[in-house]
Amino acid sequence: MRVLGIETSCDETAAAVVAQTGERAKPWRILSNVIASQAEIHREWGGVVPEIASRQHVRDICGVVELALERAQCTWSDVDAVAVTQGPGLVGSLLVGVSFAKSFAAALGKPIVPVHHLAGHIESIFLDHGEIPLPAAVLVVSGGHTSLYVVPEPGIYRLVGRTRDDAAGEAYDKVAKLLGLGYPGGPVIDRVAREGNDAAIDLPVPRFTHANRNPGPPDLAAVFPAGLEHLADFSFSGLKTAVVRYLQARGVEVDPGLAVPSDAGPLSQKEVADVCASFQRVVVQTLIDRTFTAARALGAKSVGLSGGVSANSRLRRDAAARGERDGLPVFVPALSLSTDNAAMIAAAGLRKLERGERFALDFNAQATIPI
Ligand code: KG4
Ligand code: ZN
Repeated sequence: MRVLGIETSCDETAAAVVAQTGERAKPWRILSNVIASQAEIHREWGGVVPEIASRQHVRDICGVVELALERAQCTWSDVDAVAVTQGPGLVGSLLVGVSFAKSFAAALGKPIVPVHHLAGHIESIFLDHGEIPLPAAVLVVSGGHTSLYVVPEPGIYRLVGRTRDDAAGEAYDKVAKLLGLGYPGGPVIDRVAREGNDAAIDLPVPRFTHANRNPGPPDLAAVFPAGLEHLADFSFSGLKTAVVRYLQARGVEVDPGLAVPSDAGPLSQKEVADVCASFQRVVVQTLIDRTFTAARALGAKSVGLSGGVSANSRLRRDAAARGERDGLPVFVPALSLSTDNAAMIAAAGLRKLERGERFALDFNAQATIPI
C-alpha cells in the first residue's frame, strides 16, 4: 500500500509518499518527502501570520503534491489512500490540506485518513527506526506543543504530561525575538549557543509547588505515583520572563508583549551567545529530567523525542548520554523528520489503516482536537 500524506497545519506545505515494505522490523519506507517552507515569508513579520500562511498554502499545494508523486515515481492512481493533518493547527492553513485531500480522495475513489498532527510527530520515530521497545515514553516538543505520551502498543498514544503555558519551541522563538535573532528562533539559538558559556547566566529551572489549576484532562497527575505528580507538567513562560528581566537589567530595550523584536545593541556577541547557551541548558535539562524520570515511573522500555525542537543538537546529545546512563534506548528521528513534514502524516495514516480504521469524508479541519 502507498499512502500520500499531506501536511499544512502551520507554515509548511508538505506532501509525501510512504509505502509499506512488508518487513516486520521496518514496516514503512519513504518514497518521497517534499516541503515548501514559508519561513522566509513570515520572517519579515517575526512570526507566522495566519492569513498569509493559508493563502500561501493555496498557491503551493498542487505543485508540492505533484512533485511528491513525481519523486516517488507514482501516478495519481498508484496512490492507495490519502492521509491529511486534521488538526491541531491554524484552521485556515489546515483547511487547505483537508480540502485538497478530500477532493483527491473523492475524485479517485480512494480512502482518506484524518491524522492528528502530534500522532504524526510520534510516528516519525517509528517511520525512521521501525518498531521500538514498548511501552515507550515519547516527548513531542514543537512550536505549539510540549507533550509527553506513553505508547503502550503501536497506534495508541496516551497523554501523560504537557506544558502549562508556552511550548518549548515557542520559548525558543520568543527568546530569539528578544535577542533580535530572527525567526524561527530554535535553529539560530542552537547555532549561536555553541559559542556561549552555558553557566554564564543563572536562569531559573521551572519548578512547581502547587497542583495545576488550569482546565485540562483532570487525570494527568493521577498517572504518576504520589510525589511525582509534577512530572505531568512542563512550563517555559517563567524562563522567558527571566530572560526579559536579565536583558532589561543589561540595558536592552525590550517589548514584553513581543510585538517587535528587540535590538540587542548593548550586548556583545559573546553575551548574546551566553544568553542563548544558558537558556538552552535550562530548557534541555528540564525536558530531559522530566522525560526520563517519567519514563522510569511509568515502566517505559524506551524513550522517544520528536517535533521541531528534537532537531536541537544539545537535546539530541544530552538525551543520548542520559539514555546510556539510565540504560534506556533513545530514539530520535532524522533531522528531516523532526520538523514538520508529510511523511510522518502518511505514516500515522498507515498506522490507522493497518489497525482497520476507515473514515468518511465528512470530517473537518479543527484548530484544537484531542489525539
Ligand atoms: O514541529 P515543528 O516544525 O512545528 C510545530 O508543530 O510547531 O516545530 C517548530 C519549532 C519552532 O519553534 C522552532 O524554533 C523549533 O521547532 N526548532 C528548534 C530547532 N529547530 C526547530 N528548536 C531548537 N533547536 C533547533 N535546532
Ligand atoms: Zn509539528
